Amino acid sequence: MKRALITGVTGQDGSYLAEFLLARPEYEVHGLVRRSSSLNRQRIDHLFRADASYRDRFFLHYADLADASCLSSIVERVRPDEVYNLGAQSHVRVSFDQPLYTADVVGLGALRLLEAARNLNRSHPVKFYQASSSEMFGSAPAPQGPNTPFHPRSPYACAKLYAHWQTINYREAYDLFACSGILFNHESPRRGESFVTRKVTLGAARIKEGLQKRLVMGNLDAKRDWGFAGDYVRAMWLMLQQDKPDDFIVATGETHSIHELLEKAFSLVDLDYREFVEFDPRYVRPSEVDVLQGDATRAREVLGWKPEVTFDGLIEMMVEHDLELARREKHAQAFPGR
Ligand code: NAP
Ligand code: GDD
Repeated sequence: MKRALITGVTGQDGSYLAEFLLARPEYEVHGLVRRSSSLNRQRIDHLFRADASYRDRFFLHYADLADASCLSSIVERVRPDEVYNLGAQSHVRVSFDQPLYTADVVGLGALRLLEAARNLNRSHPVKFYQASSSEMFGSAPAPQGPNTPFHPRSPYACAKLYAHWQTINYREAYDLFACSGILFNHESPRRGESFVTRKVTLGAARIKEGLQKRLVMGNLDAKRDWGFAGDYVRAMWLMLQQDKPDDFIVATGETHSIHELLEKAFSLVDLDYREFVEFDPRYVRPSEVDVLQGDATRAREVLGWKPEVTFDGLIEMMVEHDLELARREKHAQAFPGR
């Protein structure tokens, strides 16, 4: 059996990656979860229920990226062959409100885990994946590729860049099989509700069903290279299956504005977004990343990776999912107790 350890397993990507690895019978998957006053495991619940055989191959451990001793002892105990560091305070706008916490969890958290992996690597070979971000390119002009200089524009992006360079340094200094995946935005029906795609698809669906009257948004001119999270976790895995560790950009190569996202999502429910969207400066960032558009040529050539889901397909998938949610919510309001 191959043993994988995933931080951030309760998040969007962690849940898709756990699903992807468990679908391969050779994997045993260990996920790190944070203690919270109410359970937040909706994205992975089905992996315990749907197929009983997963129960013997899927294990959760309480941990926090802020707690080095706990990370070390879990890594020593589990002795993973592959470590995927996906845990993060991943909201860019929130990182301006919580810069020190974000730096600790995103930046030092990665270093704590790299240290644990380096110690294990002395007696057991381990491969390490770091979830780096296109946010690190920040204000660098699009399209962003392997030779584009980084210019981070938020506490989150600065912390990711620190973790990115630490990952490279552990590869060069200690010969650790460490890869950094610079992933552009990727979304899904499991995307957190405060990220722009999900906010828009959920908003459009709830307005359609009469559950919400307006959608309050920030900067609609920003452009992003949006792909499907299910496609992107495959790229993470592929990086760790290569003969040599390296860094890769993962992106669709297309970019769309928030206006286009709104247009697409609202037209799917036969509404005109201009009638419902309002501006609120609360959602504007102190420094913005205007345009992201990635050049994933190396991922295509070396990993044989390409995205399967298009921008239109992605938004259709998300709107369809959120319409179903909105209809259930409406039904529950009409027939309470059922
Ligand atoms: P997400 O949905 O926000 O999930 C983040 C995960 O990290 C959750 O499981 C969360 O746990 C966990 N976490 C937060 N703080 C933690 C801490 N102190 N200790 C341990 N775990 C902690 O993020 P995602 O979209 O899946 O992204 C996965 C990773 O890729 C993140 O590192 C993100 O920064 C990076 N990334 C994402 C994108 C994207 O477009 N999605 C693009 C590039 C890079 P709770 O469930 O308990 O909150
Ligand atoms: N969240 C949000 N809410 N964003 C808005 C809103 C709003 O109401 N209105 C406009 N936007 C704009 C933001 O200003 C930004 O330019 C864009 O929509 C995308 O915002 P998010 O969906 O929050 O994503 P992000 O690009 O800042 O960050 C995501 O992608 C990164 C990779 O590029 C996150 O997943 C990061 O963790 C990830 O690293």
